Amino acid sequence: MATRRVLVTGCSSGIGLAVAARLAKDELRRFKVVATMRDLGKRGPLEKAAGDSLNKTLEIKELDACCETSIKECINSLPNRRVDVLVNNAGVGMIGPLECQSIDAMKELFDTNFFGLVRLVKEVLPDMKQRQSGHIVVMSSVMGLQGLLFNDVYSASKFAVEGFCESLAVQAMKFNIKTTLVEPGPVVTEFERKMYESAEKMDLSGTDEETARIFRELYLPYSKEIFTSLSQTPEEVAEQTVNVITAKDPPLRHQTNKVYMPMTALKHADPTGQLPLHTFYKMIFKHDRVFSATLGVLRLLQRRAGKK
Ligand SMILES: NC(=O)c1ccc[n+]([C@@H]2O[C@H](COP(=O)([O-])OP(=O)(O)OC[C@H]3O[C@@H](n4cnc5c(N)ncnc54)[C@H](OP(=O)(O)O)[C@@H]3O)[C@@H](O)[C@H]2O)c1
Repeated sequence: MATRRVLVTGCSSGIGLAVAARLAKDELRRFKVVATMRDLGKRGPLEKAAGDSLNKTLEIKELDACCETSIKECINSLPNRRVDVLVNNAGVGMIGPLECQSIDAMKELFDTNFFGLVRLVKEVLPDMKQRQSGHIVVMSSVMGLQGLLFNDVYSASKFAVEGFCESLAVQAMKFNIKTTLVEPGPVVTEFERKMYESAEKMDLSGTDEETARIFRELYLPYSKEIFTSLSQTPEEVAEQTVNVITAKDPPLRHQTNKVYMPMTALKHADPTGQLPLHTFYKMIFKHDRVFSATLGVLRLLQRRAGKK
């Protein structure tokens, strides 16, 4: 099988770093990895993770998903501009009451999470069409399938990603181009740290007392519990992403965390939307103790299984 060139965005940390390093260290040497980041000053952790593969099966290049010129320069620097697999991973998070978030901050988030993807796809798609081959792999989220309290804008950006890919996939298929949305649940990365750091500092004076209380006293502690109980490592997500890339017939969607499947299944079980709506409401506001206890049991089971 010929070596495939895989371009990954957002490789300074987390999932992007893990995907790039895992692909570069592939025992069968099936990939040439172009690991990109917007700030090359942050290349240290990736260089360390890449080890011997650095400058052999992995090269590091600058790419800012919010800048068309930067994307063009990066793609133009590749032999024949060839990208066989695009892993669009760069993304940012945002949590909190809507009233406390500025429209500018929301636009910035969409500029990275949604328009970043659109810019990248616009740049690689014409060449993929011409070659009649390619694979567009997009780091979405379970929040691209099911919205979550206080994640309104982030979730909306991932819904946009899902709608974009679902629409594009049909046209792409005509040109033998595959499309895959990878949908992780919580993953322990810088993403989580940055999100909680900004949440702790958030000025909640823009919202009413009850909303501020729900966010601080209910949502944040729960969300942290969920991260400790149900999260995956970036390496686990990377392993599954590689499986998707090497699959003979890659799926349009791949959820990485089985625990989240019932949550997304609720939506398909009831087209009126009432079932997931009432389930989430009860889980958060009525049966919070049961929910908390369930998370405790899951944590225990994971510890016993030697996972944590
Ligand atoms: N962690 C989770 O729980 C989770 C769950 C589901 C989905 N995801 C998705 O997974 C993806 C990766 O997130 P992560 O968890 O690995 O978070 P992370 O560790 O914070 O990594 C995000 C990466 O995106 C980069 N990035 C941000 N804006 C960029 C831009 N304009 N151009 C290029 N790169 C940019 C960051 O670079 P800098 O270092 O320069 O900021 C960083 O390399 C995101 O799309 C996220 O939405 C994460």
